[in-house]
Amino acid sequence: MKKLALVTGGIRGIGEAVSCELSEKGYRVVALYQANDKVADAFRKKTGIPTYKWDVSDFKACQKGVAEVTESYGHIDILVNNAGITRDGVLHKMDYSQWTDVLQTNLNSCFNMCRQVIEPMRNRGFGRIINISSINGQKGQFGQTNYSAAKAGIIGFTKALAQESASKGITVNAIAPGYINTEMLQSIPDTVLTQIRSQIPIGRLGYPQEVARAVVFLASDEAAFITGTTLTLNGGQYLV
Ligand code: CAA
Repeated sequence: MKKLALVTGGIRGIGEAVSCELSEKGYRVVALYQANDKVADAFRKKTGIPTYKWDVSDFKACQKGVAEVTESYGHIDILVNNAGITRDGVLHKMDYSQWTDVLQTNLNSCFNMCRQVIEPMRNRGFGRIINISSINGQKGQFGQTNYSAAKAGIIGFTKALAQESASKGITVNAIAPGYINTEMLQSIPDTVLTQIRSQIPIGRLGYPQEVARAVVFLASDEAAFITGTTLTLNGGQYLV
């Protein structure tokens, strides 16, 4: 039986590319989304990849949703925690919901989703968990105390879970993409984006497929000895 991958935020941007790339490489894929039914319909028609709809910041929804996926498709072998949002603003103007929304969707979701799959993975002696962090979790970003904190949190979470899971055939890794050409960048003012682009030595934004190919590698058997790492993928903008 082909391995089953679940991709959160799997119908748009980086997540869409990850879903498609995993599917092309022969995995069975289920893509999860939160709200955008129209985009989900178009995604299903275009790719043939089934979609599920629930909010990854809601623990109970994750419990119910993962149970449904497992019931229909079997155990999840590969979990890609990609769902993420931005609510940018400087801290002195940030309200509480900007903080909690980002922490819940970007970081708590990793707990909410991993908690559902980790015991079955341990019991079966195999698993791949790939968490999408960000360059801004590594270097911090003006206007993103919330997002930078969540994405840095993902890196610590990844290292801790990797240690707990290594003896059970489960690898847990993070990817820290830089500025990738997706809808998410549309919220950045043009002047700021021009400035950011000038800081990328490779001289362009990244492509979602470039992140997707890294996910495919970390999901593969060839990557069995890599765990707890953060793969930096940012065109040279920030070197760790
Ligand atoms: N460093 C230092 N100072 C800065 C600065 C920076 N990077 N950016 C802006 N400032 C200064 C401005 O010059 C301005 O100074 P003055 O008041 O002296 O003129 C002051 O800070 C306020 O700047 P803004 O007018 O831009 O403030 P604002 O409140 O209107 O907007 C902001 C602030 C929302 C944070 C806006 O600057 C912004 O959207 N920045 C982009 C944030 C960003 O990079 N987000 C990434 C989104 S993509 C993503 O997150 C994906 C990923 O993983 C990479």
